[in-house]
Amino acid sequence: MHLLVTGGAGYVGSHAVRALVSAGHRVTVLDNLSAGHAAAVHTDARLVAGDLHDETLLDDLMTLEHYDAVMHFAAFIEVGESVVHPLKFYENNLGNTVRLLAAMQRHDIRRMVFSSTCAIYGLPERMPITEDTPSSPQSPYARAKLAVEWAMMDSAAAWGLGCVALRYFNAAGAVADATIGEDHDPESHLIPNVLKVALGQREHVKIFGTDYPTPDGTCVRDYVHVEDLADAHLRSLDAIKPGVFRAFNAGTGHGATVRQVVEAAREVTGHPIPVVESPRRAGDVPILCADASRIQSELGWQPRYTTLNEIVASAWAWHRTHPKGFNDRP
Ligand SMILES: NC(=O)c1ccc[n+]([C@@H]2O[C@H](COP(=O)([O-])OP(=O)(O)OC[C@H]3O[C@@H](n4cnc5c(N)ncnc54)[C@H](O)[C@@H]3O)[C@@H](O)[C@H]2O)c1
Repeated sequence: MHLLVTGGAGYVGSHAVRALVSAGHRVTVLDNLSAGHAAAVHTDARLVAGDLHDETLLDDLMTLEHYDAVMHFAAFIEVGESVVHPLKFYENNLGNTVRLLAAMQRHDIRRMVFSSTCAIYGLPERMPITEDTPSSPQSPYARAKLAVEWAMMDSAAAWGLGCVALRYFNAAGAVADATIGEDHDPESHLIPNVLKVALGQREHVKIFGTDYPTPDGTCVRDYVHVEDLADAHLRSLDAIKPGVFRAFNAGTGHGATVRQVVEAAREVTGHPIPVVESPRRAGDVPILCADASRIQSELGWQPRYTTLNEIVASAWAWHRTHPKGFNDRP
């Protein structure tokens, strides 16, 4: 297949591009490089440095190249920033996705895999989270993602779009040969920030809240390896049904506490990684853990990275060999 991959120079997208190329697909990446890295894009994929907002560019690309499907990763990802600048997030994450969907409709491209998020569930009362857990998004970031799911659902009904929304839990790790990995600025994800302490780039890790109703008092999250996520995308592509919207949780079903992540990082790096305990942060939920049975039974997906130490070790292999990430910032 020939795929258009938006946001394919970003963290998860670049890993999916690698998996697509390895599986023999032809890939065109559309990324404005606002957060992505040209060097993250596999050399066998074509990188078009452009913005989703540019409808002429979308039309030109879709006219000149016949895409069989679109994988849509492009978005702003900082939840906290979305609270301060909501319209920036609605414009890029929702508005530009509507532009993309409209272009797909104009050019009769009817297959799409979308990067959704477990944040659409909000503060669920029951764990683990199934796909039928009522949505209750708590931020503009999460509300825009849910609205995109609705736009996909309505497009499925109205013009036959076949689509899969993968609701990621916490993406982590790096490709096995450590040639690409996570490089966000600012970095808000726990594992890279813990590893920055081991690299000497931060003095300590801050733990927000140590009195949650969890085994050691710190928050529990479901860390899913980015290569396993890439595999979930390939399986989703194969599972698309015309005119049908499908949503799957992309998590392992196993949670880890903040303290367990720090301990795993100490074991993997041999660094003491000091911690500073701080009060709870507003809006943090004690536990977020996927029920992954639907993606396992319907797509045959099984994570290959099953332990926290394996995930942290693969992230460490990237950060240790690339302490400045892709080193492409001014
Ligand atoms: N990383 C996670 O743990 C996680 C969890 C849940 C959902 N997601 C979703 O997965 C997707 C990928 O996340 P990520 O961590 O790889 O983020 P990322 O920031 O590394 O990648 C996003 C990419 O999209 C590009 N982009 C943004 N707006 C664009 C636009 N208007 N036109 C063209 N390119 C644009 C950026 O330059 C970047 O390369 C996002 O949609 C995010 O919301 C990620």
